[in-house]
Amino acid sequence: MGIQISPSILAADFANLAAECRRVAGAADWLHVDVMDQHFVPNLTLGLPVVEALLASVSTPVDCHLMIEDPDRWAPGYAEAGAGSVTFHLEAAQAPVRLARELRRLGARAGVGLKPATPVDAIAGLLGEIDMVLIMSVEPGFGGQPFLDLALPKIRRARELIGDADIWLQVDGGVAEGTIERCAEAGADVFVAGSAVYGAEDAAAACSALRAAATVAAGAGRTAALR
Ligand code: DX5
Ligand code: ZN
Repeated sequence: MGIQISPSILAADFANLAAECRRVAGAADWLHVDVMDQHFVPNLTLGLPVVEALLASVSTPVDCHLMIEDPDRWAPGYAEAGAGSVTFHLEAAQAPVRLARELRRLGARAGVGLKPATPVDAIAGLLGEIDMVLIMSVEPGFGGQPFLDLALPKIRRARELIGDADIWLQVDGGVAEGTIERCAEAGADVFVAGSAVYGAEDAAAACSALRAAATVAAGAGRTAALR
């Protein structure tokens, strides 16, 4: 699939969401929507009604990142609404295999997210059931935090585990020019960026610049792996 860019609308103007989504139309592969419930994380954002409204008014596919408790109960609703990708946190799921199967049955890609302190090997047994692994490179809850370098060996380990399987490897938190290169070199292929995109004057140009930086670094990573 190659490099994909998923701008996080957490850094957008919530009073003008549809217009903010259009700022990256054509330049973004996905719109990353951060759903937070003030229980799994200490912040509250938006939920299913807002996601449904966005799905009705934007054409870019929607990538829902659910930072919520009890995803077993709530995540399927996002797939039913038409989100192209639904990621739940492994730390919060009661029955991750059953949930991933349900998301796929409802037509969404199933993603599993890991907080910074959760070891990557926890997903080893799940790989046949999921479409994406999300490595958090900040503690989930807020945009604009500095990138945690501890994500890099986790990305490398996830890439080893995934091998040639058709599973995307997403990184989220503090991704910008200067950090995206190291993530791409380590093997990530889907990049979430909030402030780096929506903090820029030209959000579409910021997406393109991130894609270009990641593409070059991914090539360097592949060459290094062959040596
Ligand atoms: C944080 C969210 C991220 C956040 C990224 O919990 O999951 O998606 O919006 O924002 P930046 O790119 O500003 O770190
Ligand atoms: Zn996110």
